This record gives sequence, structure tokens and C-alpha cells, in this order.
Amino acid sequence: MSIRRLPEHLVNRIAAGEVVERPASALKEIVENAVDAGSRRIAIRIANGGLDRIEVSDDGCGMDSSEIALALERHATSKLPDDAIENVATLGFRGEALPSIASVARLSIDSRPAGSDGWNRTVDNGVVVNEGPAALPPGTRVIVEQLFGKVPARRKFLRSAKAEYAACLDVVRRLAMAHPAIAFSMEHDGRRVLGVQADEAREDRVAALTDRALADNHVIVALEREGVRLSGVASLPTYNRGVGDHQFLFVNGRPVRDRLLVGAVRGAYADMLARDRHPVVALFLDVPPLEVDVNVHPAKTEVRFRDPALIRGMIVSGLRRALDAEGFRAVQHADPAGLSAWRPEPVSPTPIGAMPIFEAAGAPVPAYSVAERRPTFLTPPPQARAEPAAAPAPEGTSFPLGVARGQVARTYIVAEAEDGLVIVDQHAAHERLTLERMRRAMEGQGVAAQALLLPEVVELDEPACDRLEARIAELKDFGLELERFGPAAMLVRATPAMLGQGDVQGLVSDLADDLAAYDSALSLKERLDLVAATMACHGSVRAGRILSVAEMNALLREMEITPRSGQCNHGRPTWVKLGHGDIEKLFGRK
Ligand SMILES: Nc1ncnc2c1ncn2[C@@H]1O[C@H](COP(=O)(O)OP(=O)(O)OP(=O)(O)O)[C@@H](O)[C@H]1O
Ligand SMILES: [Mg+2]
Repeated sequence: MSIRRLPEHLVNRIAAGEVVERPASALKEIVENAVDAGSRRIAIRIANGGLDRIEVSDDGCGMDSSEIALALERHATSKLPDDAIENVATLGFRGEALPSIASVARLSIDSRPAGSDGWNRTVDNGVVVNEGPAALPPGTRVIVEQLFGKVPARRKFLRSAKAEYAACLDVVRRLAMAHPAIAFSMEHDGRRVLGVQADEAREDRVAALTDRALADNHVIVALEREGVRLSGVASLPTYNRGVGDHQFLFVNGRPVRDRLLVGAVRGAYADMLARDRHPVVALFLDVPPLEVDVNVHPAKTEVRFRDPALIRGMIVSGLRRALDAEGFRAVQHADPAGLSAWRPEPVSPTPIGAMPIFEAAGAPVPAYSVAERRPTFLTPPPQARAEPAAAPAPEGTSFPLGVARGQVARTYIVAEAEDGLVIVDQHAAHERLTLERMRRAMEGQGVAAQALLLPEVVELDEPACDRLEARIAELKDFGLELERFGPAAMLVRATPAMLGQGDVQGLVSDLADDLAAYDSALSLKERLDLVAATMACHGSVRAGRILSVAEMNALLREMEITPRSGQCNHGRPTWVKLGHGDIEKLFGRK
């Protein structure tokens, strides 16, 4: 067996296998170089998902002819002036991206430092094919053509141009989010697909790159602990998506993918969102270089934290604090379909007094109009009630959620606020308030129990009883006192006082179901959100209960001071507001 040193082009091609997996990874390396070069403006153009061509122009520091040649050599980098790799502050540091790309594609670099001339060097699959002067403004232009054109084994594994394009766009979006001072533009097959201005505020940049509506529906996250700084934006729970693709994490300006983020975000929003809904978050961690290792994988999209628990804890509490501070705020735009249902009454051609008593058969009646629903003896009387507010708001105090004016369909509270009309979903709101009260109680002494005058027997199957029995001590902290009562029943001695006279049977059997679904390794306290949500649901002011004005106002006032009361436990809004301006628009006054 003879051992030999591999020639440089082969070494590069082997490295390329890890660094350049697909067009998006080549694009990522080239754009990162442009960022590292101190650019203010980066323009990207790709063709056919980047499979045919990738072009990146920047206005950064540029390179002279000898630097270009060096840049194309393996392990040549300007980014580690000393040997302290743990202190690296740039995106690149390995000195292998350009030679790797050049070994599996045709790579052309035009570059010009300010105050000097431009130069080109083109390498085709490891061989220099052109070198000479080039005309361009100060900065660098890198063109990659026919990636893997001569590596059929690789080319075969690439996905469709459409999938490659999506991956390229994702790369640019993440880098643009991490660097709001730099202007980015991107074209695909001649069509502009992304464009952001230089010097944007971070939250504006995130909104521009995800969804414009986020601009009005986010909270700012800011937390500092043990030298680690967390900042960024997170969507209000009511602003959520069916897929979790809009969750971004950046560590020291570097977009990274980390499972830690997914879990921490889930934990922070646990009781505010249904399981299948996902918030939008963009979180930026500034970590002292020694606390994080970026040299985990050649593609540099993973990092290793020295203290992952600290980071995870920071993400959870940073998000929770920001969301708590928002209190009762919910998404401020109602569902458009719901809003468009506010239909104007068509102007009646007949004077009211002359309205026919019997409708002419076949006469066209406009859909959804009130006129269509003239009361007849068969129509039940409307369910809306209004009574004068017993205690009008004290002068000079303004309540954000207004003063209750009435109840509609025994489900919605209608309140008048200084700036508009507020409608509250009483069940959703009360459920939320109960959950928050329970959360506070659990942080202190535990939930107060209310003994039942007559203990109640709840019949359940045996495994359900076994599960409840195993948790008797823990459930006591929640104010629920249970005893085993034969093989297939539980005796309920007391229920959480804050739930009032609720449906004991339903509560206990739902909890048994919850326990079946739990991870048995977790204590109920750790699953507080789930237990509390189930209990809150049973203790709530159900839809359909008539409330007095005093009760309605009490509910509104409690919502105003309770964190996270703007959304129900499933992430839907608990209240909506129709501003005076909107009301005027409905009547055509504006
Ligand atoms: N757009 C650019 N503007 C100015 N200099 C550049 C540009 N692109 C590359 N360079 C120079 O070329 C060198 C080599 O780039 P290359 O991407 O191969 O390695 P790196 O960025 O140092 O490390 P990594 O392999 O981790 O990306 C860089 O260190 C930098 O000095
Ligand atoms: Mg690089």
C-alpha cells in the first residue's frame, strides 16, 4: 500500500463536497464574503434556481490581483489576522469557500479596491482559464456558472430548479435579516424577488422579509444576562402561521439552524397557541465568542453553546416577558372576511310607511339585509340586551377596553371605548383570565380548594383512574382533591375555588385524558400550562351565560391588567376593536 499526498485540486473537490452541497450553499458563501468585505449594497442575480448561474456584486473593500489569486488558494483567508480562531467576528474564517466552489464550477472573480484598477481571474473546475484587467466600480463581482457541470454524480442529486431557487431565497433572506444596515436585492431569471433598503430598523427589516402585517403585530424582545444579549422581534400570539418556517435565529450576526430555538419558542408560546400554529420570531443573540463554537461544520450553519440551558432559558423568558408586557393587546386587524360582513343597508326604494305587509312572491330580496328579516311572529326576539351602566367610568379615567354597554347573543360583550367600539368574546376572555390567575397562584401558595358539600363520584375506566391516582398529590396543589373510589371511580372532595360551581365530571375526565397524553416524566407543575388550560376551560364563563353590566365591566377591567389576556389559550383574539374611523367608513362618512 502506498500512501500519497493528494493533489490540491482533489483536496478542494473533497472539501467542496461538504461546503458546496447545492447552489444555495455556494450563494451563501459568496454573499457572506460580501458582508465580511464591509459592503453597503449587495446585488444578487441567479438563473434557473442558481443551477445555471449565480452572480453577486458588492461595493465592499475589493481585492487586487494578487489577493484574488490568494483568495482562490486553499486555507488562505484575511479573516484570522492572528491564530485566535475562538475570537472570530466574521462570517467566514476557514479560507476554503472560494477554492471549493472553483473546483466544481466555473468561477469568475472581478474585483477592484477603491483607488486602484480592476482585475479578473476565472477558474474552470480547478483550472485557471482567464486572468487580466477588468472594468467595474470599486467592489467585487463573483459569477458561478454550471455548478457541478462536470461532476455528474453531484448534479444528479440536485433537486428541481424551483426547490433550489427557494433554498437560495431563504439564504438571502436570512443574511439580509441579520444585516439590516446593508441593502440587498435579488433577481431570479430576470424577475426581482427581494429588495430591502440600507439602514433599516431591525423590526422593519424582519417585517419586510417575512410579512408586512408583522409590522403592526409584534413585540420587541430584549434581555441581557451573564454577558449574553438577546434581542429581536416576535409576533403576537394572535398573529400566527400554520407552518413554523418563519422562525429565525442569529448568533453573533450569523444565521444558524438550531433545534434549541424550536423547543424554546414552543415553550414560550405554549399556552397561547394551539399545537398546530406557529408564531413568527427573529431572535438575535450576541454571545461572547468564548461562549459559542461556530466551527462545528464546514457549512457554518450550526453552533455549539457552552451553556445551552442558559440560552434556552433566555429565549423562553425573553419572549415571555415581551409578550407579558403587551398585556391585553391582540392583533388589531379583524379577519377581513368578518369585517366585510358589515354590510350597509341598501337604500329602500319604498318609503318605510308604504312597505308592503306581505312580500310579493318572487320579489328579489338583497341577501343579508336587515329588511329581509322583518320580525314576524315566528322570529324570536333579538337577544341583545342593554342596561344603563350602573357605575359609569369615573371622569378623566379612560379604560382601553371601554365601558360595557351590553351583551349580544349571550356570548359577546359590547363596550364603548374612547376611540371605538370593542367586542369581547366572553368565554375566551374568561378562560384566559382563569389560566393567568391559576398561574399566579401556582407561583405562590398553590390554588385554593373549595370543599364540595357532597363529595362527587366520577366514574372512569381503570387506567384513567390509575393515572389520576398517581398524580393525587400534585393535583392537590391545583386545588383538586381526589380519592380512589373502587377500581373504576374517583371521589372528588374539593375543586379549585376560582373555578366556581363547575362541571366536576367533565373536569376530572378531561384531566384524565390530558394525563394519558402527557409525557409521564414531567411533573404537573412543569405542565402547568396544560393543566391550567383544561381547568380554566371548565371554570369559564361559558358562551351563553347572561352577564350583568357589573360582571361585564369587572371582566374588562381584569383583562386590562392581566398579561397575555389579548388572546385565548388557543391563540385566537379575545377582543376586537372597531375604531371610530372604521365606523365612519362603514357609513360612508369618510
Ligand atoms: N466579496 C469579497 N470582497 C473582498 N474580499 C473577498 C470577497 N470574497 C472573498 N474575499 C477574500 O477572499 C478570501 C477567501 O474567501 P473564502 O470565502 O474562500 O474564505 P473565507 O471567507 O476567509 O473563509 P470561509 O471559507 O469560512 O468562507 C477572504 O478571506 C477575503 O479576504
Ligand atoms: Mg468566505
